[in-house]
Amino acid sequence: MAKQHHDVTLEWPDADRETRTVAVDEDETVLEAAERADIALPFGCRTGACGTCTGRLLEADGAESAAGDDERGTIDVTDAFSYRRSPRALKDRHRADGYVLLCIASPRVGCRLAVGASVHTELVDNPWK
Ligand code: FES
Repeated sequence: MAKQHHDVTLEWPDADRETRTVAVDEDETVLEAAERADIALPFGCRTGACGTCTGRLLEADGAESAAGDDERGTIDVTDAFSYRRSPRALKDRHRADGYVLLCIASPRVGCRLAVGASVHTELVDNPWK
């Protein structure tokens, strides 16, 4: 049986919103799929501990219909990704804000993600504001 995969569009906010789309297999992480496609994403530990690989979910297939009247358009990261192990580098509020660790996350739906070093910078800056 053919493997399920989902198209994930990567968008670099710090590179004039350059985008690339990769097909990520069900049992593959976004980072692994990007590497297979020769796309360089930042990473450190590859175990969900350091946060270097953090991306931010911008849009997920089906999010609009699930959002109902909510004007913000609810994007639930827990519906969009499954984690291989616990994402230790993210606090609950980061997960609620759509941040996702690309080294251990496999998509469950097609989606668009902000990636690159600037996303991790947002994350580490926030707690001190
Ligand atoms: S590379 Fe360290 S959390 Fe993903």
